[in-house]
Amino acid sequence: MSRLIVISNRVAVPTAAGGKGAQGGLAGALHSLVREQDGFWFGWSGETVENPATEPRFQTAGGVTTATIDLAPQDVEEYYNGYANATLWPLFHYRVDLTDYRRETAKGYERVNETFAACVAPLIGPDDTLWVHDYHFLPLGARLRARGLSNRIGFFLHIPWPPTDLLLSLPYHERLVRTVLQYDLIGFQSEEWRDNFLDYCRRELSAAINGGTGQITLDGHSTIARCYPIGIDYDDFAAQGQTGEARQAQQRMLSSTRRRTAIIGVDRLDYSKGLPERLDGVARFFETYPGSSREVVLVQIAPPSREDVKTYQQIRETLEGRAGRINGEFSEIDLVPVRYVNKGHSAAELFGFYRAAKIGLVTPLRDGMNLVAKEYVAAQDRDDPGVLILSRFAGAAQQLTDAVLVNPHSPDAISHAIHTALKMSLDERRRRWERMHDSVRTQTVQQWAADFCRDLAATTPMRTEGRGGLLRHR
Ligand code: F6P
Repeated sequence: MSRLIVISNRVAVPTAAGGKGAQGGLAGALHSLVREQDGFWFGWSGETVENPATEPRFQTAGGVTTATIDLAPQDVEEYYNGYANATLWPLFHYRVDLTDYRRETAKGYERVNETFAACVAPLIGPDDTLWVHDYHFLPLGARLRARGLSNRIGFFLHIPWPPTDLLLSLPYHERLVRTVLQYDLIGFQSEEWRDNFLDYCRRELSAAINGGTGQITLDGHSTIARCYPIGIDYDDFAAQGQTGEARQAQQRMLSSTRRRTAIIGVDRLDYSKGLPERLDGVARFFETYPGSSREVVLVQIAPPSREDVKTYQQIRETLEGRAGRINGEFSEIDLVPVRYVNKGHSAAELFGFYRAAKIGLVTPLRDGMNLVAKEYVAAQDRDDPGVLILSRFAGAAQQLTDAVLVNPHSPDAISHAIHTALKMSLDERRRRWERMHDSVRTQTVQQWAADFCRDLAATTPMRTEGRGGLLRHR
């Protein structure tokens, strides 16, 4: 039997309590896949230890098997904090200005990819299918091929792929992209990121591209690049909304904002999310519409992330300063117009907060997809839905075209969008919401996974010829 082996940096180990919502839609969908296909989910345990064992630790809970390895401090520093999150992450989010390239971290990234390949390769049977996730593992497929694996291997990039001119600023970009072409299927969140990838292959590698099918042919072998927009686990999220926890959260938010209109933002504390720019937009709204700071409150939830990376420490400071300044300027003795909360919340609580907020403000400067936008839509009351304000630079803007789309760099555009949302008639809110809701309800994370796995199964895997070398047949 062909098993499915999922590989990603973080692994969601199923909790004893079960309950999909606690771990997010993606985790739930991948759990279902590996359970149904009798496979396992392999990755980093999240633990840093001096001398990590090379044997993965297997665990099975709720029918889902996970296999994890620990990493050494130097590995975490160079691979995770370094090349993945200080080089690739900013560059792939179009922030060349924040991209820190160091030869040591690039080497650490390669070394950890090799470690992953060495640990997982012996666990893979000839008929297994592999699905590798995200920018942490761009070269992993090539490392596995070098170990003689001829299995079907798919890769999905959860973040944007940058335009060619930006990627050219990365030393050894060509070597990196050539390794990505060792996957059988390469998935992107949006057409834009896929087209950027195809453009690079055409311009820099002189690969033959079939724009219609996404087939890329180079040096006699082919791979497919396609777009698979990820969604939420709609049914599970809706079920979270029926819980007492969700109702309490909604009530808490409504009673604490009293008669004011709540605007909600929920983001990891990351510079790609456009948080200082969002606060500038809200401040511009308060300035442009005098008295509005008494009528409207922004609740910004921003749990800290990647705290060992300098740019993340800086964004936190910037945001704290900016929130403090706005509140200093617009607060009154009995009200504070910006509530900035630095901690995470459960899916049920978020459902309640989204439902209580008349505006969802989702303004990343660049985002692979953005599932907060989709969750906000899913949590609305169909009789009186709120308005989603969405950055045109989020992958989600390709599907949620009925949101109020904004340029997140422009405080005036954000201010104007808030004004538009507040003035929008109930009829128009309903019309827009119905269409967005249809998309969120049907383009779920389960659909995304099924589409990707179907296409991966349809690729022709690399074949071994007798006991000899590897040959591609397409
Ligand atoms: O969206 C990319 C991503 O790496 C996700 O895979 C992950 O859940 C999220 O960002 C948080 O990042 P990290 O795993 O570095 O905390």
